[in-house]
Amino acid sequence: MGQQRHSDVLAFQELLARRLSRRRLIGAGAAFALTTSSLLGGPRSAAADESAVGRVRASPLGFEPIPGSAADAVQLPRGYTYDLVARWGDSLWSSTPDLDATKLAAGGLLEPGAAGRQQRQFGQNCDAIHYFPLDARGGRGVLCVNNEYTDDALMFPGHPGFAGAVRGEGRAYVRRRPALVGVAQAAQGVSIVEIARQGGRWTMIKDSRYNRRITAQTPIDLGGPARGCALLRTDDDPHGVRVLGTMANCAGGRTPWGTYLTAEENIQDYFGNLAALKSGADAHLLDAHRRFRMWNTHSLYGWEVVDPRFDLARTPREPFRFGWIVEIDPLDPARPPVKRTALGRFAHEGASPTIAPDGRVAVYMGDDDKFEYVYKFVSNGRFDARNPVANRDLLDHGVLYAARFDASGRGQWLPLVFDAKGPLGPAAGFRDQAEVLVKARHAAHVLGATPMDRPEDIEVNPVTGRVYFSCTNNERRTAQPGLIEYAGRQVQAGTDAANPRAANRYGHIIEIREDGDDHTAREFAWNVFLLAGDATGGRLITDPDDAHEDSAYYAGFDEAGALSPIGSPDNIGFDRSGNLWIVTDGRQPRGTNDGCFVCPTTGPQRGRLRQFMSGPVGAEIGGCVFTPDDETLFLSVQHPGEGGDVLDPISHWPDGAGAQPRASVIAVRKQGGGVVGS
Ligand code: FEO
Ligand code: CA
Ligand code: CA
Repeated sequence: MGQQRHSDVLAFQELLARRLSRRRLIGAGAAFALTTSSLLGGPRSAAADESAVGRVRASPLGFEPIPGSAADAVQLPRGYTYDLVARWGDSLWSSTPDLDATKLAAGGLLEPGAAGRQQRQFGQNCDAIHYFPLDARGGRGVLCVNNEYTDDALMFPGHPGFAGAVRGEGRAYVRRRPALVGVAQAAQGVSIVEIARQGGRWTMIKDSRYNRRITAQTPIDLGGPARGCALLRTDDDPHGVRVLGTMANCAGGRTPWGTYLTAEENIQDYFGNLAALKSGADAHLLDAHRRFRMWNTHSLYGWEVVDPRFDLARTPREPFRFGWIVEIDPLDPARPPVKRTALGRFAHEGASPTIAPDGRVAVYMGDDDKFEYVYKFVSNGRFDARNPVANRDLLDHGVLYAARFDASGRGQWLPLVFDAKGPLGPAAGFRDQAEVLVKARHAAHVLGATPMDRPEDIEVNPVTGRVYFSCTNNERRTAQPGLIEYAGRQVQAGTDAANPRAANRYGHIIEIREDGDDHTAREFAWNVFLLAGDATGGRLITDPDDAHEDSAYYAGFDEAGALSPIGSPDNIGFDRSGNLWIVTDGRQPRGTNDGCFVCPTTGPQRGRLRQFMSGPVGAEIGGCVFTPDDETLFLSVQHPGEGGDVLDPISHWPDGAGAQPRASVIAVRKQGGGVVGS
């Protein structure tokens, strides 16, 4: 497309944007698509756009929503059940025993051999899940599951928990019990297990050739432009090509060529002693660590006591080797995972790949911290469905973009490309493209990307192609414009059109429509899809421009009594009909437990949110993916019992009275079979 024609289109779109509110801009759907795609001359014709709308099937949602609950149980609508697929500590191989949770209170995990056993058992605190079918009928497949972090108080007696760890008491505990570190490093990363439906129930297959654990100590290759760069070199890895481990694995994705993407998120909590590094350290390095909020003295987990890789004073570049998207081939356990540096380094929440009309691959990603950004990577190469090997390194070459959301309802993808004479050059602290990627947060800030309210999962609707992402909450968002100091820079904290509520307690969801429905587009239209919160009591608004601190907005759906209240949206997923499934992590408007919710994204029921599942005490819900037939929904029940400890557990899920709580993956099914949600 020529430059002149492009600017004509932009002018036209700005005109449209001024005439229509943001809600109507996307809601205008077919008319908007028809006009812009005609002008853009893009790969999709107007007829194709209309047929895309026509493809939207009637919503199959027919279940009776459940009320929120504070019970220590997984609750589902009438007619549904769940299978417990894998609990923390379930062994992947019959030669290793399962975790004996009855011994936790007596320090069972601090006994010799515990770390070795944990390396062969399902990890703790499951989060993202993706399912890779092994047969056409879908009754057998491989699950890739993130094990995000350890909740040490739920594993080791006398551990002070996160509140104590913030004060440094976690590190003091590690000094007394150094064996903790080996177990904790083995309990996180990724668990890969074969599962099968046997007698109608999903079960884990021990000893499958696909079973595999990837931990915080597993060798992982570095790929892409930052491989080998100076910032990634350490004494242990002088060429900067191979890292030990992955951790803080939050959400993830599944590529069209059948690999799993796991996202390294809160890596800052593993590194301590920034204060000891300060004297004499290079200013670039210090700035980068401050931008990631590394810990000044003790880290949150205290690993630096026994493992120098996590001591910034001793291994100052180790943190640059984390905070990436890691690609794993679940069907080839011999193939090492690869950290794909072209996708940038930040607190990666998830990574959702999709194929653009010209065959290039776009990967949407969020950076989960307050006032961080939304990103998109677009590959240079094209997906080749007939030649899987040709797709292997697609994610090593391409352009990373950060999103700017303009008040008009339009948005731009800003390319994070090194330019010696441009904004991302030496004057801004970048010496080459590798440094732009390692310090992607800083690059996005320099280009003027929009600081969001904690961007969590981001997914593409398989029916409409529209892109949705959760902003989970941000209580530091202010009603008035003003700069605050956060994560090593001054940032604008005042509300804006894309983050419209001050003290955003319950979070929101944004909907994006790429220009021409082309995922490689440089511009897009966007909309607030949902402002989470309780819709009753006069809080429901039907135009997000009217947002105030207590308001709730459900895509314009205006029957408050028909809506389930939701707070802190986190992972999201879609069924084949394009219904949006949302799981939560945090405060709920009526003080109930976290759960799973669903609403249509099109038609008259668009935005009508209904609660489908409620989790046990203390748990957040993760995962949220379906089998290809939509007859099973996999959910992670992460950190049940959070806030208690092994000596005084506050949850006994899933094993019942007297048992220790154990994070687990469940498979939700309709009794007697059928599409979940129907
Ligand atoms: Fe690990 Fe952003 O949730
Ligand atoms: Ca998450
Ligand atoms: Ca979260």
